[in-house]
Amino acid sequence: MQTIRSIKGMQAASRKLARQGKGIGLVPTMGYLHEGHLALIRRAKKAADVVVVSIFVNPAQFAPNEDFKRYPRDEKGDMRKIKSAGGDIVFIPRTNDIYPDDFQTYVTVEKLTKKLEGKSRPTHFRGVTTVVAKLFNIIRPDVAVFGMKDYQQAVVLRQMMRDLGYPIKFIVAPTVREKDGLAMSSRNRYFDDIGRWEAVCLYYALRTAREMVKGGVDDPKLVKREMTAVIRSNCPSAQVDYIAFTEFWTLTSVRKIDRNTVCSLAVRVHDVRLIDNMRLC
Ligand code: PAF
Repeated sequence: MQTIRSIKGMQAASRKLARQGKGIGLVPTMGYLHEGHLALIRRAKKAADVVVVSIFVNPAQFAPNEDFKRYPRDEKGDMRKIKSAGGDIVFIPRTNDIYPDDFQTYVTVEKLTKKLEGKSRPTHFRGVTTVVAKLFNIIRPDVAVFGMKDYQQAVVLRQMMRDLGYPIKFIVAPTVREKDGLAMSSRNRYFDDIGRWEAVCLYYALRTAREMVKGGVDDPKLVKREMTAVIRSNCPSAQVDYIAFTEFWTLTSVRKIDRNTVCSLAVRVHDVRLIDNMRLC
């Protein structure tokens, strides 16, 4: 496995692979990898000859009040995990190379970023699309793999790729969960024992929603009421930011739940903001 830290080095490696006719798969990450990331790497490996994993804690997607400084980092551990999952190149750019002092060009997806997460994190997606566009320009992948855990991120990035005409196959891989159902996330490490115990309330709420829909309920209001009750009873201090029922690729709210509906939610549990989502039928 090769580690590359400079943009020039990464560009040269990509050009060489392209000359050899090798397809490049990219898994962009912010490091502190867990089984969910490793599943993305394995998925990329199936779709491409060579898998590049980028590790970059992207300051542009954190608001000043968010956890950029304390975001967990573990480069050595990440390297070991990437190797075990079959990654071929780890690209670890320096912050100053991605965002030089006079940096002033951003990529913005206009409408989709104002919904759901965008309401409480208005600058977040601009940071995500900018860094991912930059990674695409440097690495020139044939395939890029993202996780369904960050549902809105996947929708926004797909829109960006379409609008800007990136010739890249876009794959969204399923969410990987802990044994009790909590969606894997690097931020889960922030929890103490009680917080971790209660964090599973998002999954319980989604599971309840799925059972209701399977039982014939298709009214989002009824399902939302029940989900809120499940969250409250499992985590009395939880603050629900939103519970939404939206059409998969447009993020438009639905009046009736159907196969194309995604239920997504954001909940603050013991001061950690968690997101999760599920298709209900
Ligand atoms: O999903 C993430 O970890 C990040 O948002 C991404 C896509 C690596 C961009 O920084």
